[in-house]
Amino acid sequence: MNEKIIKDVCSVGAGVLASAFFLNAMHQRHHGRTTVGDHSMRVACTGLQISRLLEKFHVEVDEKAVIRSALCHDLGILGRDEKFENNRECCWRHPVESVDVANYILEDLTEKEADSISNHMWPLAGKKPSYIEGLILTVADKYSSVLDTVKPKMRRKAAADGETVHRLIIDEMNRKKSSCL
Ligand SMILES: [Fe+2]
Ligand SMILES: [Fe+2]
Repeated sequence: MNEKIIKDVCSVGAGVLASAFFLNAMHQRHHGRTTVGDHSMRVACTGLQISRLLEKFHVEVDEKAVIRSALCHDLGILGRDEKFENNRECCWRHPVESVDVANYILEDLTEKEADSISNHMWPLAGKKPSYIEGLILTVADKYSSVLDTVKPKMRRKAAADGETVHRLIIDEMNRKKSSCL
């Protein structure tokens, strides 16, 4: 993963990354071998890459909305075994719960971000996202989920990306802490 992309995600998403929810997400297993936190970082990075590609073709994209929605999109899945009866319930309810968590973490969550998070499971659940940022999130999420779960080689690559992401998150948090001193 391109380090500039990761740094931009860490910078724009610092508020989400520093939250207790996201730290918990780093410890909850997701798609077999990864965690909710790693997966969410990869979705944010992939989403930003897609955004920048589209911008080259003069498509206007709200990068901040893509990054913040991606980092929050699965936070409602935390504690899934206690919260949801089965995978089906988890599939349609966790996006709604993720909007609640995002609202709690971000005082200025926008309607666009809420719509993108709540419909990120489309077309499996929810409705078609109303904004291009939501469509980017659905594509980045599906792509990253495949990387997380399918081929062993891809899985190793995903794990390696996860290590870089962890390191950059820690750097970003230390930077944030020292700027507050
Ligand atoms: Fe999800
Ligand atoms: Fe996801």
